Amino acid sequence: MPLDRKAVPNDLRAFWMPFTSNRQFKSAPRMLVSAKDMHYTTADGRQILDGTAGLWCCNAGHCRPKITEAVQAQVAELDYAPAFQMGHPLAFELANRIVDIAPDGIDHVFYCNSGSEAVDTALKIALAYHRARGDAARTRLIGRERGYHGVGFGGISVGGIVNNRRFFGSLLTGVDHLPHTHLPENAFTKGQPENGANLADELERIVALHGADTIAAVIVEPMAGSTGVLLPPKGYLQRLRDITKKHGILLIFDEVITGFGRLGSPFAAQHFGVVPDMITCAKGLTNGVIPMGAVLTSAAIHDAFMQGPEHVIELFHGYTYSGNPVACAAGIATLETYQDEGLLTRAAQLESHWQEALHSLKGLPNVIDIRNMGLIGAVELQGIDGEPGKRGFDAFVRAYEAGILIRVTGDIIAMSPPLIISEAQIDELIGKLAEVLKSTA
Ligand SMILES: Cc1ncc(COP(=O)(O)O)c(C=O)c1O
Repeated sequence: MPLDRKAVPNDLRAFWMPFTSNRQFKSAPRMLVSAKDMHYTTADGRQILDGTAGLWCCNAGHCRPKITEAVQAQVAELDYAPAFQMGHPLAFELANRIVDIAPDGIDHVFYCNSGSEAVDTALKIALAYHRARGDAARTRLIGRERGYHGVGFGGISVGGIVNNRRFFGSLLTGVDHLPHTHLPENAFTKGQPENGANLADELERIVALHGADTIAAVIVEPMAGSTGVLLPPKGYLQRLRDITKKHGILLIFDEVITGFGRLGSPFAAQHFGVVPDMITCAKGLTNGVIPMGAVLTSAAIHDAFMQGPEHVIELFHGYTYSGNPVACAAGIATLETYQDEGLLTRAAQLESHWQEALHSLKGLPNVIDIRNMGLIGAVELQGIDGEPGKRGFDAFVRAYEAGILIRVTGDIIAMSPPLIISEAQIDELIGKLAEVLKSTA
C-alpha cells in the first residue's frame, strides 16, 4: 500500500528539532508535506506562499523538473564515489560552471556540505595559506558583530549573534570583531544605506591593536541575512577590501545567502563590485535540494598550496561527501535552471516592485524599520517590553495560519522569496503580511 505521507505522525518526541522551540512546535505542529514552485502544501491541505525560499535556499522555487530529474537519474547511475584521491566527472563540470558565473579572479572550488562547513573550510584555508607562504604568525580571524556564519566552532567564533555563542564555551582564541553596520539613522532606507562606510575603518583600529602580521582573514556577509537583514552602507565593502589588501589580510565574503542571484547578480561580490579572496556558498547552489556547500578561491590562494612533492596531499581537509555525485547533479541542473530562466538577474528586475510593496507596510502597528535589497526584505517590529522575540514569533505563527511563510529573528521579520515569484505574488505576500501586522498586538 502506498505510504500516506500526508498523515500527521502521532508521536513527535524522538526528533529534536534544530533552531526550534520544540515544545511549542510539538503542541501545535506546522507540518509541510509537499511543494511546487512558489507554494508549500500543509498536512491539513492548505497552500502556503513561500516568502522565504525555504530557508533562503530554494531560489528556483520548489520541485523544479530539471533538478528533480537530474537527481533521480544520477542516484541510479553513480550514487557515490570516494571523494579522496578519486574523482567523477560531474564534480569537475560543476566546479567549472560555478567559476564561469563567479566574479573575475575567483577560479577554484572546494566542496563541502553546508554553509557552516564552507565557513570553517574557508577559515582553515586562510590559516594554511599564510603558513604555506611562510607567514605562519597570521593566525587571527576577524568577524563582525551580528554576523552569522553557521554553527561550527569556527563559524560561531567569528560570528556575532550572542545566543549562538554564549552556551558553547570559550570558542576559538585569537578572534576579534568589527562593529555591525546597523545604524538607527538609516531606518526606512530604500536599498543601500548612505551612512556608515566609516565603520570599515574600525579594521584599522584592530590592525593597530594586534599588528597586521598576526591577522589571517576578515570574514563578513556582504549583506547580513540571518541576523535580520543588515545592509552594507554605500562604500563600506570597498573600504574593507582596500584595508585588507593594504595589510595582506584575506577577505572572505560569506555568500551562503547572497550567492546565486539573491541581490540581482550571481554573487553579491559582483553586485557591489568588490571581489574578495574567497567566497563561501551553499543553499542556492543546489536549490536546497541536496545538501552542498563550497568555498570559491582566487588562483593565488589555490596556487600557494600547489608546491612540494607531487604525491603529497596539499590540503589536509575534506569531507566524505565533498562533491557527492548526486549533489553535483543537483548543482548542475540548478545552475542550468537559473540560466534557462534568467533567475540570477531576475531580482534586479523585481527589486523596485518588491521595494515599493515592502515599504507600503510603513505606519502599520509596531513597525519601526523596513529594509530591502534585491529580493530580500526585513520588517523590524518594536519588541514587547520584557518579552523579546514574542511579537515576532506571534507574527510568524499568524502568517503561517494566513497562508504565507515568513522568517523571524527575534522581532525582525525577514523575507527572501524564490526568484520565480511574480509581481502579483509579491502583492499577495505583502498584503497578507499587512493583515497579520494589523492584527498582531
Ligand atoms: C551567511 C551564512 N553563513 C553560513 C550559514 C550556515 O549554513 P548551514 O545552515 O548550511 O550550515 C548560513 C545559514 O543561514 C548563513 O546565512
